[in-house]
Amino acid sequence: MSKPSVLVARAVFPEVVARLREHFEVEDNPTDTIYSKPQLIERLQGKAGAFTTGSERIDAEVLAACPQLRAVCNMAVGFNNVDLPACTARGVMATNTPDVLTETTADFGFALMMATARRITESERFLRRGEWTRWAYDMFIGPDVHGATLGILGMGRIGQAIARRGALGFGMKVIYHNRSRLPAGQEAPLGARWVDKATLLREADHLVLVLPYSAESHHAIGAAELAQMKPGATLTNVARGGIVDDAALAQALRDGRIAAAGLDVFEGEPSVHPALLELPNVVLTPHIASASLATRRAMAELAADNLIAALGCGPRAGRPPSLLNPELLAAR
Ligand code: DGY
Repeated sequence: MSKPSVLVARAVFPEVVARLREHFEVEDNPTDTIYSKPQLIERLQGKAGAFTTGSERIDAEVLAACPQLRAVCNMAVGFNNVDLPACTARGVMATNTPDVLTETTADFGFALMMATARRITESERFLRRGEWTRWAYDMFIGPDVHGATLGILGMGRIGQAIARRGALGFGMKVIYHNRSRLPAGQEAPLGARWVDKATLLREADHLVLVLPYSAESHHAIGAAELAQMKPGATLTNVARGGIVDDAALAQALRDGRIAAAGLDVFEGEPSVHPALLELPNVVLTPHIASASLATRRAMAELAADNLIAALGCGPRAGRPPSLLNPELLAAR
């Protein structure tokens, strides 16, 4: 029996591609070309599965043009690049890579928040420019992190892991806003308090965004929300571009409405709003929150496990470990 064909849409660890070859005819992308939509559709012809990353948009048009597709396995916890209802309607299994990146992403989110508050990159640039000629009492003065109020918007697994770092490691007071409140048993060890969004904005010294991107979370932080934040507060986004209105943020930073921002994700990335590039009080990183070697490997392995299982191979045949549309199983 011939093996099913799959597309690995971006360059990925060779050992993961080799594992996929044990089960499938694999078209991989070692040159890491970013496919346009027509190129993606062309590459997906005759493929039963796709190993994707956040840079491939799998929408209704792509699905309609690739009727043989049975599984889309995203190497990311976020799946806003995949039209999940359209996949479900066509019986295409969709998967993501939750859990394996939680702690690494939380480490990075916390580091980015600290770098933002304590002006690490701004002061490093000053030193490298040779401008450091003497100590001064107010040089790169900024807010404390320890003991401050940590506000978390989106209290899923990564939000909770950031809250743990803040509460247990840095004695921070934790407030959060989420659609659903955590059970008391999860709030208590962190001393975490659910608040409405307006209170979160008003009380947080350091606001960290960790919510998924969707039509509802688009521009969840815009000019009106920034205007409600404490003067002197910081904003950190390790979730998705588009949750923050980047133009409004640049204006708020320029006006000194808030002290600083740390951004790992951007609207329209890899483009970055030019106004943000000009500002000294923004720490900018290129969507690397999950980029530890162990975690990126674990994400790739999990995406491969999902693809192998979704296409009926391996020990979990038919039951991918992180299936986003389990209703398809019930329908079989
Ligand atoms: C994720 O897993 O969603 C990260 O943002 C990497 O894309």
